[in-house]
Amino acid sequence: MRFSYRAAAALLATALASDVHDLKTDTFKDFVSTNSLALIEFFAPWCGHCKALAPEYEEAATQLKEKNVALAKVDCTVEADLCREYGVEGYPTVKVFRGPDNIKPYQGARKAPAIVSYMTKQQLPAVSILTKDTLEEFKTTDKVVLVAYFALDDKTSNQTYSALAESLRDEYIFGATSDPELASAEGAKQPAVVLYKDFDEGKDVHLGEFTEEAIASFAKVASTPLVGEVGPETYQGYMAAGIPLAYIFSETAEERAELAKTLKPVAEKYKGKINFATIDAKAFGAHAGNLNLPTDKWPSFALQDTVTDQKYPFDGHKLTEKKIGAFVKEYVDGKLKPSVKSEPVPDKNDGPVTVLVATTFKELVVESSGKDVLVEFYAPWCGHCKALAPTYDQLGELYQSHGFGDKVVIAKVDATTNDVPEKIQGFPTIKLYPAAAKNQPVDYSGSRTLEDLANFIKDNGSNKVDVLSAQSKSSKDTEDDDTVMSDIPESMARAAPAATESASGAAAAVKDAIKGAAEVVGTFIDDSDIPQDHHDEL
Ligand SMILES: *[C@@H]1O[C@H](CO)[C@@H](O)[C@H](O)[C@H]1NC(C)=O
Ligand SMILES: *[C@@H]1O[C@H](CO)[C@@H](O)[C@H](O)[C@H]1NC(C)=O
Repeated sequence: MRFSYRAAAALLATALASDVHDLKTDTFKDFVSTNSLALIEFFAPWCGHCKALAPEYEEAATQLKEKNVALAKVDCTVEADLCREYGVEGYPTVKVFRGPDNIKPYQGARKAPAIVSYMTKQQLPAVSILTKDTLEEFKTTDKVVLVAYFALDDKTSNQTYSALAESLRDEYIFGATSDPELASAEGAKQPAVVLYKDFDEGKDVHLGEFTEEAIASFAKVASTPLVGEVGPETYQGYMAAGIPLAYIFSETAEERAELAKTLKPVAEKYKGKINFATIDAKAFGAHAGNLNLPTDKWPSFALQDTVTDQKYPFDGHKLTEKKIGAFVKEYVDGKLKPSVKSEPVPDKNDGPVTVLVATTFKELVVESSGKDVLVEFYAPWCGHCKALAPTYDQLGELYQSHGFGDKVVIAKVDATTNDVPEKIQGFPTIKLYPAAAKNQPVDYSGSRTLEDLANFIKDNGSNKVDVLSAQSKSSKDTEDDDTVMSDIPESMARAAPAATESASGAAAAVKDAIKGAAEVVGTFIDDSDIPQDHHDEL
């Protein structure tokens, strides 16, 4: 079957050079049955992420061919039924096949070295049994490998380690030996786990308990480089690490290497407590804006609490071990105040919609007791926000003109120029802070019409203000009051879709700080292209 493919491909000189198999509905089943381990990409020719993956995929296919791992692709615009059968919802979808029935999503990065490393791990047994002849070579099979040393009759350690290896086989390569001489040659006392790496100090010995949990958290810390690099492949990992991240911004690779060396002792000191990483200021300089650093002067340094999203920009551009060491120590000692980006407090703020800035957010939203506060988080360049503005003003007027100003506040905040205490995924985001539960805002996801917004405030607010019935009553009283929304044709009222605009969706306004920021996040978080996507998430 492979030969017939080759024969057909011979007609196309370029296809002949490819090590990626082009699968069709009639060749698919045979392919996954005959290849015990295969990686298959479901793609669409128009998809940008697929195009970016293509050369990486080719390179990985060539390298993995020697290891008997087959790479293939399926064009879902041609083989639509086949793609549906395998639950493909976005492009590219990449899956690992061990025969026709054992299928797992591919969870590595979309780069050739990552694909090769990931599939190599898939191919190995969960734990490779090592001898004195194979140990040395095994230590260098990947950037990071784990080797356990335990006694032949130590069934408990063996089971613990095997279970761990099974659950983390996508992340690390695991080996084990029960040869006591190998253990003592490593200076390890059985049972022990040693992590070998091709960076920093080269190896780390696990000194804690021999439990799955303890070894897993040891491996996580030990496998993170002392000074790593923030980029599309690592950003999410750093954000999910649960500890702060220290960014070292610099424009050139040489300077980054230099600064990483300079600041390594600081990173060493806070190992496991703060992650340190360099970041390419040429490619991701806009991200500095998110950290309240200038976006035009390098090198620079900032700390980010990845849990609370608070930022601590370092004021200065001379990043010495002494200065940064002192800055980080102040942070760790709790002596640094987070930096808050805020617009100035507006002089006048008596319109129908209350204008919030970062420094007044707490006072006007959280601490305004007895009031249900509806907050729109918007971006100046966001089209959906502009479309909502007249309705939103009307909504504010409605509460004020019916004497509910002391019970309901309609407010908005430009979330691009103000640090807000919420993680905003797209614009506009609307949340209601009920008077009785200010710490539990309710997300609004209905349509952006006056009625729906007012009903939402009535149903979800603590004060249960029913402004619509108050209004229809008063409009009956005064026949010629014509601001009634029942005058708005139904079709128009429904016309505003509850779509959210993500930063990456807005192509203009490149200079806008958050726009840049969102682009960075968009670059870091490598989402699939989803067909008929209504909106991109930030
Ligand atoms: C762990 O146990 C398995 C199954 O009994 C055995 O095959 C393997 O050799 C043991 N591992 C070591 C390092 O002794
Ligand atoms: C909030 O309001 C919406 C829309 O009026 C309603 O469907 C929903 O049930 C309310 N939720 C709560 C918790 O009251």
